[in-house]
Amino acid sequence: MIQSKLQHLNTLLDLDRSRLEDVLDLAAAIKREYKSAGASDALKGRTAAMIFEKPSLRTRVTFEAGMVQLGGAAINLDPSQISLGNRESVKDAALCLSRWVDAIIARTFSHKLVTDLAKHATVPVINALTDLHHPCQALALGQTLMEKRGKLTGLRLAFVGDGNNVANSLAELAAQVGMHFILACPKGYEQNPEVLKSLEPYFKRSGGSYTVTHDADAGVAKADCIYTDVWVSMGEEAQAEQKKKQFAGFQVNSRLLAKAPAECIVTHCLPAHLDEEIAQEVMDSERCVCFDEAENRLHAQKAVLLTLIDGGKPAAVVRGR
Ligand code: CP
Ligand code: NVA
Repeated sequence: MIQSKLQHLNTLLDLDRSRLEDVLDLAAAIKREYKSAGASDALKGRTAAMIFEKPSLRTRVTFEAGMVQLGGAAINLDPSQISLGNRESVKDAALCLSRWVDAIIARTFSHKLVTDLAKHATVPVINALTDLHHPCQALALGQTLMEKRGKLTGLRLAFVGDGNNVANSLAELAAQVGMHFILACPKGYEQNPEVLKSLEPYFKRSGGSYTVTHDADAGVAKADCIYTDVWVSMGEEAQAEQKKKQFAGFQVNSRLLAKAPAECIVTHCLPAHLDEEIAQEVMDSERCVCFDEAENRLHAQKAVLLTLIDGGKPAAVVRGR
């Protein structure tokens, strides 16, 4: 399936359902292959430029390690040095980078900056988190649920917390593959209405559903997986005190977990603020799969890099050309 059209990953909707499922299958194959045989040279000589305007542990390391494990390299650009949109236009920076590297990976405050990069770049642009979306995280969850549950369609995913960037991308995953997404949040912290509106035809087509509740217990009552994330996202520090008070009843702890089915698993995109959105006892429990999900960031993103840079590769040829 050699792909001719330039494809970006600004949101998960940039991948249609079949390509999304291909990426998840490829991620699983890459993980197996990496564990049994180590690094490959599938992207030998290829480079990716990384721009991180916000802090990162997982995304930065997994993209850089991922490029190296595929035989290529990643170049981390100091955002204060390149000063996108100030030192030169986003368009000029995108056009220059496109002449040198094979992909641009960007974590920015504004989602528009990533879409502007994609508008002008002639190489794939990958969203490494913006205020509105975090598609790579949703792919890692998809891979993790496939490993733990063997399917995605029909699963009930309860997101307990803020209707934020991670929630938006997880809702996109649910809408595409036919999961039932439940947001349990305090009043006023629902998801972006435009994002939700865009998902209606996807939920309709896939047979999934979207529900919002302000009762955390009701939200998790039938959940196969409970997801949570920080109450205060990067860039929202000024709202920290207010949000911590408003989210007090939305901690994922043993009491809440007791309201969910016995086989329900829990996860978190990390970094976690222990004993705020998630209790230490839940993080430490066997039901918490957040470190499996963190591991899968590496493999899911290698699958994205292969798919976008090289049009995807059947599992059998992941190693070498
Ligand atoms: N989950 C996630 O994206 O982690 P980082 O912010 O550390 O990259
Ligand atoms: N919602 C969080 C996710 C961090 C990976 C943030 O944007 O800070």
